Amino acid sequence: MYIITFKSNFMRKFLTPILIAASIPMLAQAEHPGEAVFKQYCSACHGMNGEGAGNGAFPPLRNSEWVRGDKRIIAQILLHGVKGKISVYNKEYDLHMPSQGALSDQQKVDVLNYVRKTWSHDKSDDFTLEKLEVEKKRSAGREEAWEAIKLKYLFDPPGPLQDLIMYEYSGKWEQMPDFSQLEPESAEEESYGKISFRNIRRDKPFGVVWEGVLPIPQTGVTEFELGSSDGAILYINGKEVAAQNEIRNYNISERMIAKVPLNKGNHQFRLEYFNNTGSKTVLLRYTAPGNGRRLLSDDPGRVKDRTMPTIDLTPAEGQTRIYNNFIAGNSSRGIAIGYPHKLNVSYSTESCSLNQIWRGKFISGGLHWTGRGQGRQAPMSNYRVQLTKEAEATWFSEGQPCEVQYKGYRKDASGNPTLRYMVDGLMVSEVLTPSPTGFTREISYEGTVENQTTLLLNKTQGEPNVLGGKLVITPGEGVEVTQNQQSYIAVIKPNSPKTLTFTYTWKN
Ligand code: HEC
Repeated sequence: MYIITFKSNFMRKFLTPILIAASIPMLAQAEHPGEAVFKQYCSACHGMNGEGAGNGAFPPLRNSEWVRGDKRIIAQILLHGVKGKISVYNKEYDLHMPSQGALSDQQKVDVLNYVRKTWSHDKSDDFTLEKLEVEKKRSAGREEAWEAIKLKYLFDPPGPLQDLIMYEYSGKWEQMPDFSQLEPESAEEESYGKISFRNIRRDKPFGVVWEGVLPIPQTGVTEFELGSSDGAILYINGKEVAAQNEIRNYNISERMIAKVPLNKGNHQFRLEYFNNTGSKTVLLRYTAPGNGRRLLSDDPGRVKDRTMPTIDLTPAEGQTRIYNNFIAGNSSRGIAIGYPHKLNVSYSTESCSLNQIWRGKFISGGLHWTGRGQGRQAPMSNYRVQLTKEAEATWFSEGQPCEVQYKGYRKDASGNPTLRYMVDGLMVSEVLTPSPTGFTREISYEGTVENQTTLLLNKTQGEPNVLGGKLVITPGEGVEVTQNQQSYIAVIKPNSPKTLTFTYTWKN
């Protein structure tokens, strides 16, 4: 090792490039056999340094989750090509890469290993001709290029959990903390439908809460098996069913078994987890009648999928912010509104119904702000009420559900939006006014009522008048309450009041 010090600026300016240039031949290593193949066959579309090409029109290989993922998928891409929508490093493409038939098998293997070595930090064994042979057999007869979604699930079928949201917390614990007292640092939808660490952003120690819906095909006893390192607690319909609340090494033979009688239908799922030191592992399986034994957790060896920044969009104190995009927990395209007093809600712009209400931080825009990311952005707080389809507002005319047309929103001087939609010939506007204890919801309409129109609002399940165990609803005048069904029904007749008011109060 030589340390060269320059005596003058002149020397530094003119000698540095010469010295660097002179050292290149000494540093150059024997070229990887795949490098020449890459330069000849791939670089025109993917860039000399894997950065993509055509000013961002062609996808990169550097930072690509496809390059870092399962090598067999890269082999399938080389064999058949890939077409249609594909998300690469938080950006969506919709193009066609032809199969690389011009390459010999050896060249395919070489370029695969080169791409992998260069743009993935993976140190596993090289892909081989034998493995390529297995992949050729697997897709024998395929004439068309792959669609990305098929490739994504080829070796990694999605799990059964629906509307799954993952909340990440940083902190070091010896026992499960009370997550309801902590603010998650990020939250995002887990589109794989299973418990997985692949999207975890932080290194240990950390905590995670997954919340979603578990469908059960037949009534009977469902058996859950839970093993973890470190602690994990499983809740079904809000009840703890299995818990390992300590720091421990994962041991496959030490599993908690919980037998839970469940009816056919959807059940609330929640898994809390913390990692203190050592490896992070969760194994969760369930055996449901009519369903067999299935994994609810991911293959522990899976690599990280994406790198996505958290961009906290929580509005400044006293301000309101609107976020128009795909939102996790919303069945379709939606609009999320962050209000003062830490109140946040999301509406579906398809059914024009309120379908999530949460308190705390608003939403992270990382996914959608770094290009048109796939997936849906999730609320950043898990003090959240998710209204199920049955619990959402529905308008009826003469007993039949009405078609609802979203008409956008208008902001008042303070930035508070009024949502507007047409239903059964009426122009309805809806506005929320936040307060330190909750909010009021005013639904007004203009127009002439010809038929009898009814609004079925927020059917509560379980405790009467309480939504999701967290919000107490108090109906104002003109609202009939059907006690047995625990639902609020407003019947709008020609002389009904033009505004219906509901007060929502946080329980604690
Ligand atoms: C003619 C242009 C072209 C050539 C040549 C080409 N690709 Fe692609 N490649 C694409 C396009 C376009 C996509 C995205 C297809 C889509 O939108 O569905 C893609 C996707 C990929 C992907 C998955 C997405 C990503 O960016 O990681 C990999 C991996 C890949 N190519 C590797 C290669 C390798 C290795 C070679 C050389 C053997 C190669 N490609 C040659 C155009 C090309």
